[in-house]
Amino acid sequence: MQTTTRAWRASSRRYLRQSIALRLNHNQAQPQNPQSSNSPGRTTSFGFKTIPEETKESLVKNVFDSVASSYDLMNDATSFGVHRLWKDTFVSTLKPGRKGPLRCIDVAGGTGDIALRILDHARETYADRETSVEVVDINAQMLNEGFTRFKKTMYHNTPQVSFHEANAQELPASQFKSDTYDLYTIAFGIRNCTSIPAVLKEAHRVLKPGATFACLEFSKVNNPLLSTLYDQYSFSVIPLLGTILAGDRDSYQYLVESIRKFPTQPDFAQMIRDAGFSTGPNVDGGAWTDLWGGIASIHTGVKL
Ligand SMILES: C[S@@+](CC[C@H](N)C(=O)[O-])C[C@H]1O[C@@H](n2cnc3c(N)ncnc32)[C@H](O)[C@@H]1O
Repeated sequence: MQTTTRAWRASSRRYLRQSIALRLNHNQAQPQNPQSSNSPGRTTSFGFKTIPEETKESLVKNVFDSVASSYDLMNDATSFGVHRLWKDTFVSTLKPGRKGPLRCIDVAGGTGDIALRILDHARETYADRETSVEVVDINAQMLNEGFTRFKKTMYHNTPQVSFHEANAQELPASQFKSDTYDLYTIAFGIRNCTSIPAVLKEAHRVLKPGATFACLEFSKVNNPLLSTLYDQYSFSVIPLLGTILAGDRDSYQYLVESIRKFPTQPDFAQMIRDAGFSTGPNVDGGAWTDLWGGIASIHTGVKL
């Protein structure tokens, strides 16, 4: 069974790499941003555990290798489909296509949920078939799921979508050039990265001046009653669903814990400003917009 799984993974990786002609670019360039590399001796969180910084990426990769094939099903099951509403809100708030076609980069884009919404929104609302999205993820399995999914859409094999394996903290500068994109999105991805400042710094680098950074992420619930109910649900139900539906309790336990370790809305807004973006004031409706009492929130910033 293990051999079959390994063989499937190997062939799936091979398939991903061979699909360059179908606009699936695999870039193995060396990181060009040494400042954002992990520092030996330093620690970070992996859920509630403290681990050496340099080990986090491979642990996170294992999580998403493990959940890739069940990721979309589990998202629906654990959130009762609410993640779809949040993603719809996220994209419609950004109004892609309103001022003409955009060149977008969706980082930690996984199975392409945000990319598909951006392209659909631009087409359905503004008859825009020129907006494009480059989906970037560190995990080939997640990208493979996204690529297969896009085959069923009108965007497959068009310049509107492409998939790229790369680390959000160190986007290869030869491929992801500075001052290039009109919109940078990252949904439910940044909390999995070892260094949030490194991700924000790269986001700032690749965006054009005046362009928008937008992040959808689980956040802090301020209402004590909602917070208690949400904690009980998250810590008891989600890992259980992970066991039943995906045969993987540990990965879902990590995903729940990582949410609790993410900075508060004001702290994350400050990190966005520290990276060189301007944001609204430090209130709900300003630098961020809470969804469902802060279970998730949308942060935006404009590159100065
Ligand atoms: C929870 S999924 C979100 C996927 C998608 N954005 C969505 O909203 O459905 C998190 C994604 O972040 C990716 N990821 C984690 N660390 C990353 C990194 N350093 N660089 C790029 N992607 C990363 C994972 O591989 C995974 O696909």
